[in-house]
Amino acid sequence: MTKGKVDALLGIVFGDEGKGKVVDVFTPRYDIVARFAGGPNAGHTIIFDGKKYVLRSIPSGIFDTGKINIIGNGCVIAPDLFMAEAKELEAAGYDIKSRLHISKRAHLILPTHRLLDRAYEAAKGKNKVGTTGKGIGPTYSEKAARTSLRVGDILERFEEKYLALKARHEQILRDLNFTGYDITEEEQLWMKGVEYMRQFKLSDTETEINKALREGKNVLAEGAQGTMLDIDHGTYPYVSSSNTVSGGVCTGLGVAPNTIGEIYGIFKAYSTRVGSGPFPVELFDATGDKIREIGHEYGAVTGRNRRCGWLDLVALKYAIMINGVTQLIMMKSDVLDTFDTIRVCIAYTKDGQTTTDMPYDTEGWQAVYKDLPGWNTDLTAMTSADQFPAELKAYISFIEAETHVPITIVSVGPDRAQTIEL
Ligand code: GDP
Ligand code: IMO
Ligand code: MG
Repeated sequence: MTKGKVDALLGIVFGDEGKGKVVDVFTPRYDIVARFAGGPNAGHTIIFDGKKYVLRSIPSGIFDTGKINIIGNGCVIAPDLFMAEAKELEAAGYDIKSRLHISKRAHLILPTHRLLDRAYEAAKGKNKVGTTGKGIGPTYSEKAARTSLRVGDILERFEEKYLALKARHEQILRDLNFTGYDITEEEQLWMKGVEYMRQFKLSDTETEINKALREGKNVLAEGAQGTMLDIDHGTYPYVSSSNTVSGGVCTGLGVAPNTIGEIYGIFKAYSTRVGSGPFPVELFDATGDKIREIGHEYGAVTGRNRRCGWLDLVALKYAIMINGVTQLIMMKSDVLDTFDTIRVCIAYTKDGQTTTDMPYDTEGWQAVYKDLPGWNTDLTAMTSADQFPAELKAYISFIEAETHVPITIVSVGPDRAQTIEL
């Protein structure tokens, strides 16, 4: 964590890797923590002192009361959900109004964006993306179409701008025959959320961050989603709608590429995916169910079953390449504590063809596995890597040898304290 630099912590697979937990652990080492992409489609879990919090739009550095947290210009924000999330923190005794800054350039998710999300999904039928329903796709689409509203818009003539955009959405919904909805209450809450947001510092966060960097302060950029859900580099069209990769840190915070320092790539010791789309390592058997049960693999936002499988080195190596990952962080290692054999996908195969490079179309590929012995040891109470069983050390060494990137943190449980630095 070099002073004057932006380090990034990025989910490098399909999200839910444990970003929230590690950002919370890292925060004491940084001056500012900033989200650069996504919105309330994210669900970042933080557990400490027997308490659990799930953050959606607010950065996971918020629990360190001396630090500034920023919602950057690359994010989309739903005022009603933001208000609910922020008030929960206030009720828990955290004073956040003075240290949570929101970019005026972040885009607003309207209640009608959420309706559009549902309508577009319904229209796709069996090809639906399986979105979180938070209006993410419609909001980013309108950002690109230059018709969207930004946080800065709430500062003047907002009602007029809001009504015009809402009317446009209602027209699209009529065209899609999506009718019979009633958002009266939701809209009232949303407007209350807008009022509530005015109490926060709505600022030019890019100027603020760059000024801090010039003063020698350091910034931790907190990723949302994961590389395989990136709009450009993920399994399109089964992706989210923003750039979740390291390049997104520059555009989503307004920082230049030469300000980027470390790039932490975070992954689970196995794989999960929530929503539709190709997933070559997916297990449909009792082993997959066992991983889901032990790992509590149910979505933090929607409660859906997460699809489970073994670690995918094809995806991992691809993500390391796209992001320029300098250090790896392996999460949920304890979930594999009771498996005799642990499999790792080392290549994909289809129609007699084998590849270790991420193919354009990940549909229809099957995983080629290498088997490693399990450790059959409870890791959850371990506090140092010296205590690791030989099989876990071998698993770590195998991944490092394949990826050429060191694993510098191994997580052995959901609590802040269950984090082992190597
Ligand atoms: P994020 O979206 O990347 O922040 O991750 P989520 O919070 O959606 O999902 C990670 C889940 O795994 C949460 O329920 C965490 O509490 C939990 N978790 C994080 N690290 C570990 C770990 O090392 N072991 C176990 N068993 N659970 C973990
Ligand atoms: P965090 O930050 C896991 C998935 C959805 C769906 C696709 C598109 O907690 O890791 P969207 O609502 O973004 O249009 O949905 O992306 N998805 C996530 N999966 N973790 C996330 O965030 C996700 N955010 C979106 O399930 O498949
Ligand atoms: Mg999550």
